[in-house]
Amino acid sequence: MYNDLERILFSKEQIATRVKELGAQLSKDYAGKNPIFICILKGSVLFFSDLIKEITVPINLDFMAVSSYGSGTVSSGEVKMVKDLDSSIENRHVIIVEDIVDTGHTLTYLIKNLKARMPASIKVCTLLDKECRREVDLTPDYIGFKVDNYFVVGYGLDYDEAYRHVPEVGVLKPEVYTK
Ligand code: IMP
Repeated sequence: MYNDLERILFSKEQIATRVKELGAQLSKDYAGKNPIFICILKGSVLFFSDLIKEITVPINLDFMAVSSYGSGTVSSGEVKMVKDLDSSIENRHVIIVEDIVDTGHTLTYLIKNLKARMPASIKVCTLLDKECRREVDLTPDYIGFKVDNYFVVGYGLDYDEAYRHVPEVGVLKPEVYTK
């Protein structure tokens, strides 16, 4: 498994430290607001579960699944809902928790879709921001780490549904997806 990685970008310790910082910031910003944290399946599941453990104020959780990538490494720009929320977000403060923002098409779709449900506010917390690839004007409100234009896997991120359980974030060797 690690043989398929060119190098580790973020270690377990680096991730844990940054997740703690984000949790502290979110706890401060959302004190008294009882926000709802939305996990975007499947990529953000590891980040989400570590992040919510660092939140020290009351929150609720919900889950949504969208698909934008097939089995390749290039976004089609097409996003479809695979699983919707269970709860209403009307008048609620919403935090979308994402694994990575790449072109920004997925988030644009999500924000538009959720805004139509009349929440009190919507903010985005992403583990990784691949800003150099953005095709729409969109800046996440909370960012774990910025990444350059690499295809990364681990800590929830996959290539063809593999590597999600790897505890670090690493750069996938190009020969893995070009073969
Ligand atoms: P966007 O719509 O182009 O912003 O893509 C967002 C989604 O594409 C993410 O939620 C990931 O599932 C996937 N994605 C983008 N870049 C990577 C990557 O480097 N590794 C793994 N998945 C990625």
